[in-house]
Parts: sequence; C-alpha cells; structure tokens
Amino acid sequence: MSNTAEKAYEELISRWKEAELIGSCAAILHWDEQTYMPRGGAQFRAEQIAYLAGLAHKKSIDPKIGELLGVVEKSDLTKDEFSDSGANIREIRHEYDKSVKIPQKLVEEISRTTTIAQGIWAEARKESNFGKFLPHLEKIIKLELEVADCLGYEKEAYDALLDNYEPGSTTETVIKTFEGFRKELVELVGAIADSGVKPDISILQRDYPIDRQKLFSQEAAIAIGYDFHCGRLDIAAHPFTTGLGPSDTRITTRYNANDIGQAFFGTLHEGGHGIYDQGLDPEHYGTPRGNSVSLGIHESQSRMWENHVGRGKPFWKHFFPRAQQMYPEALSNVKFDDFYFAINDVRPSYIRIEADEVTYNLHILLRFEMEHAFLKGDLVARDIPGAWNDKFKNYFGITPSSDAQGCLQDVHWSAGLIGYFPTYTLGNLYGAQFFEKAQDDIKYLDDQFAAGNFSELKKWLHDNIHTHGKRYRAGKLVEVVTGKPLDHKYAMDYLRAKYTELYKL
Ligand code: CO
Repeated sequence: MSNTAEKAYEELISRWKEAELIGSCAAILHWDEQTYMPRGGAQFRAEQIAYLAGLAHKKSIDPKIGELLGVVEKSDLTKDEFSDSGANIREIRHEYDKSVKIPQKLVEEISRTTTIAQGIWAEARKESNFGKFLPHLEKIIKLELEVADCLGYEKEAYDALLDNYEPGSTTETVIKTFEGFRKELVELVGAIADSGVKPDISILQRDYPIDRQKLFSQEAAIAIGYDFHCGRLDIAAHPFTTGLGPSDTRITTRYNANDIGQAFFGTLHEGGHGIYDQGLDPEHYGTPRGNSVSLGIHESQSRMWENHVGRGKPFWKHFFPRAQQMYPEALSNVKFDDFYFAINDVRPSYIRIEADEVTYNLHILLRFEMEHAFLKGDLVARDIPGAWNDKFKNYFGITPSSDAQGCLQDVHWSAGLIGYFPTYTLGNLYGAQFFEKAQDDIKYLDDQFAAGNFSELKKWLHDNIHTHGKRYRAGKLVEVVTGKPLDHKYAMDYLRAKYTELYKL
C-alpha cells in the first residue's frame, strides 16, 4: 500500500473523528436538556446545540474530506469493502456525498419550516384540526421531494429519504417484506379480537410505588447486561438512549405509580439500545466502523430485549417471584399465568405508542403506506385523514373518532421525518430473525433466562452484531448473521406461536 494513501486515510479519519467529537458534545447538552436542565435554560441551550451542530456540519463537508476520499478510494484500502478501512471509506463517502448534495439554503428552509410546523402540529392535534396543519404538511412534502431530488435516486423519491434512516434499504424491498407481513398480521389481530378472550389487565394498574419501581427496573437492566459503570438510568418525559462516548452510554425511562409495565419494559427497551452502544468497538470510536448500523438494527436490539426476552415466559419465571417480593400488596395473590397474560395483552387501539407488540406493526405499515403514497403523488395531503381512517378500519376493524386519534397523533411528519417509520417494523423483523438464530446457536436459552442468566445472549449479540459497527449494511448483516435474507416469517412465527397459546386460537 502506498504511503500517500495511508497518510491520507489517517488524516481522513482524524478529521472525521473531530466532527464526531463535536457531535458528542452536542449530545451531552441534549441529554441534559431532556433530564435535568431547568426549563428557563431552553432558549440558550438551543443556541448552544445549534452552534455545535453547525460546527460539526462544516467539518464534515470540508472539501478536504472529498480530496482525501479521492486519494484513498484509489488505493488498496478499499479492496475489501468489509475491512475496517473499507467500511469506513464506504460510509464516509456515503455521508459526505449526501451532506454536500443538499444546498445550505434548502437545509435552512427545512429547519425553519419544521420548527414552525411542529408548533402548529401540536396545536392542531390538541384541537383535532387537520386543516390547520395541512398547509405546513404540504410545504414539508414539497421540501422533502426537493431533498430527494438533490440526493438522487434510481427508482423513486422515497428511496432517497428512506436511505437517510436505513442506509442501503430500498422501497421495493420494504414493500415486498411488509406486504406479506401485513396480510398475516391482519389475520392474527382479527383472530385475537374474535377470540373473546381478554386478560385482566387491572392487576398491572394497582399501586406500584415509584421508589421500588426504580430498584426493580435497575435490577432488570443489570441482569440483562446493561453496564452501570459506563452508564446511568435517569428520568425523561420522552425516554431515549444516548451514546456519549466509548464508555458513557445513558438510558432514560419514565415512571407511573399505577402501571408496573411502563417504566419496566421501557427500561428493558432502552437498556437494549444501551447494550448495543456499550458493545461498539471503542478502538473505532468516532468512525463508522465504531458506530451502529442503522435505526432499524438499533431497534432490533431494543425490541428483542423488551419483547422476545422481557415479555417471555422464561424471563418471568425468574422475575415474577422477585416482583411479588417487591410489590406484595399488589401481586401476592396474583397467579403467574394471569400476570404473564396481562403483560401480553393484545387489542386494537388508536394510538401507536401505546400499542402492544402485535398491533404495533400494523400502525407502522399503515404510516409507511400513507407516506409512500403521498410522496409518490398517489395521495394528496388533504385526503390523508380519510385515507388514514379507511385503512385503519381495514387493518384494525375500528375507526378513529377524530384526527387527533388518527393521522395527527405522531410528531414525525411535522419534523420532516418522512421515511423514518419503516425502521420501527424493520427493527422488529430483524430482531425476530436474529433471535431465532440465537436460539439455534445457544442451547437451553430458555433455561438460562429462567435462571436469571442473560449473559450468553448478550455475548452472542456482541460478537455477531455490536462489535462490528457499520462493517455491514443492515441487509447484509442479517444475511451474514442468520445465513438468510430478511424475511417476515420469523416475526410471524414468533407472534403466532406465542399468541395462539395465550388466546387459545
Ligand atoms: Co427504540
């Protein structure tokens, strides 16, 4: 390998790390904003974060990066695209091209438009007044189409936007995967609704003192392998996880004294995100090789710990006696089976973020189909409420009584996040496929969980997924790890087996 290329690569990485370093400073300001900052600090904090974001952006679009990429791309460093340097160069090129293709003027206009639109959306949702939000949504769709044009795409504009959140995925693959999934899901949800069986969920809504919930959530996070030496658990209104550096990944949750599940499953979810970030290779921190693959792969980790593990029977064989000890007043007379059924309650409901693990995916498929249609021009923005409700009736068997309960409930579109929704369901699909493979590879996983031992699964995830960073794109990673391309079959098999038993279908 030529000395020039090696030097150029070193400089490229060092420049990229500088931008990431600035980004991590902004991330801790953001964490503080969401957890401890007094409300009065909001305006100045926004200024601080915007300043750092601008600085990082400037570093990452420096023409020097383009020059260095030009040098290293001609060298042996890219011979194997899955080597450390190969992956880094591939992903830095991808990011760099995207950043330089969108004119600064457009970036600023989107930022202005979405800031205003989010405020209007919040009011429109409160008043359930879609007309109020409509002109802003129309403008956002127009701007996002401009972004797609700047970025370029082979088949359709949605491809370009989807790539921002799930790099390498195509609309075509998503449609193909989701269509098969939807058909089978609608059937399962219908069968559950028709079963006439309903768990008693009131047992989850008794008095669950928050100080004990804190202990219990923390205990579970430690058990599944979230490392508190390099992390913390705090309270936030909208729970999130943030990786602040190679040994500092923080998670958040929120407590409700009359709901045992919200904080507990929320902590397992964020703990899953946290374990992923804690498992990234510190040697490559600040480069793509030391960063997570995509939103979908990140979500596959959180959902696996939250649902496949945390809502499973073996998990509660270990944790239910502990829960009874923690909350004797609420749970001492509750039977294991009743508790297990209650935490796996499935029923059609209007609000996505309150949905169970089965119906959740239908909420996502509906949103994906809507945004795909309006971006393509098959659906005009003013017809969204009607189209939403029709689809909803089709998939869930019920119709929202207001737009607040329907198409106005999510912040995403007002924030310009079009192409983001599929990552939630992709996460569930990746997660199910990974989990099935882990069950194949590790013998007696259920027995281990029932004994409170989660370390082998964590190690499997670390060795197969976490430590590789962005070595592979999501689709390739699934193939490398499981030997098969992404398929909705694994999620469907898992859901069908679990809920057929619970609802006696
Ligand atoms: Co998540």
